[in-house]
This record gives sequence, C-alpha cells and structure tokens, in this order.
Amino acid sequence: MVNQNELKALVGKKAVDWVFDNMTIGLGTGSTVKYMIEALAKKIQKENLSITGIVTSAETAKQATSLGIPLKSVDEVDHIDLTIDGADEVSADFQGIKGGGAALLFEKIVATNSKKNIWIVDQSKLVNKLGSFPLPVEVIPYGSKKIFERFDSRKFHPTFRLAADGSKLRTDSDNYIIDLHLEQITDPFKLADYLKAQVGVVEHGLFLNTVNTVIVGYTSGPKVLE
Ligand code: 5RP
Repeated sequence: MVNQNELKALVGKKAVDWVFDNMTIGLGTGSTVKYMIEALAKKIQKENLSITGIVTSAETAKQATSLGIPLKSVDEVDHIDLTIDGADEVSADFQGIKGGGAALLFEKIVATNSKKNIWIVDQSKLVNKLGSFPLPVEVIPYGSKKIFERFDSRKFHPTFRLAADGSKLRTDSDNYIIDLHLEQITDPFKLADYLKAQVGVVEHGLFLNTVNTVIVGYTSGPKVLE
C-alpha cells in the first residue's frame, strides 16, 4: 500500500518533466513541493541546467539554497516561465484552496506572475466542492479582531491560526492568518470578491483560474489532468 508521502514524492518527481534549460521556475511551498525541489536539484545537476528559482516562502528558500538552486526575487526577473506548487484542495474545475502552509500571499504573487502554473497533489486533495479544508485569509494584525468579528457574524466560523507556542502565527510578511471553517463554498468567486473587499485582508487562499495542469498522485501512479 502506497502512503501519502510516497504519492507526494511521486508527483514531485513527475513535475520536473516540465522544467527545461534556462527556465525561471516559481517554487511553491509545502511537503509535496519539497519532493519536487529535491528532484529539481538533481535534474539541474545531472543535466547541467541553468535554472533560476523564485521562492514563495522562507522555508522553500532555505531548502532551495541548501541544494544550490540559484534564486532571485520576483521583482528581479522579467518573467516566470512556470510555477510548481502544492494545494490543499482542488475541485473538478481546477479551482483551489491554498495556504495550509501560510505561504498563500507569496504563492499568489508568484503564481499570478507566471506564464504557466502546475499543481502537484496526492489524490486526497481532489474534491467535488471546495470548503472542507479551512480557507486561510491573511490579515494585517491591526484591526484583525474587527475582521474576525465580521467573519464570525457572517457564520464563517473563523479561527486565528496559532504557532507551536500558542501565540498567533505570523506569516513571512508578519501578518496573521484567519482560517474560515466553511465546510462548503457554494460560489468561490463571490466569496473571493467579498474577502478582497475587506480592508485589512491582505490575501485569501482561494486560487481561482490559476492552473490548467494538475498532477495527481494515485496509488497506480501519477496522472496529469489538463
Ligand atoms: C502552503 C500551501 C501548500 O502548497 C499546501 O498547503 C499543500 O501543502 P502540502 O504539499 O504540504 O500538502 O499552499 O501555503
């Protein structure tokens, strides 16, 4: 029986088939992406490729640097050829929730500046409707209690995400994450518009119309959905 980590490794390795010499590659965040970065570093070395990585978190920067992948910031490049990232939920029409690793802001900046985006997920991430996974919303600390109360009054069942020490988790941009426990999102586009309109919300984890390729890890092997 193949376990979830093996499925993540499978899709992580498969994703580097889309990487070619001289590409600028957005590097997502998370446990699935970790496998992809390992595979990418091996491919760069084996095929002597010239690749520039654009990271989406301090965590990814640490791993990529330790493996010798040259990095630049998104503002230092004129384009990103391809971004490979994980996801927390993917619906049948390729809409997604991301931000389980609290990196949604940089992930969305890099994704929206990429010519192509690929998500790599194990089969457990595929859903009919988004919403079982709590939707992360990154908010500025000042006024965050007010936003929290507004979400609460709309029955979004918000919770502040906590760090290991019990304090409110801080993102790489020093913001808070409020997770919305929605169970089911009937209209992700409407919800995205509402969230974006709230002053103090920096970004939310609804990634809509972002990808057209999803590599899914099944026990029978990786499957490319397009
Ligand atoms: C981080 C993310 C991750 O891509 C997402 O949480 C999936 O992570 P994993 O591959 O560990 O399941 O959005 O902010």
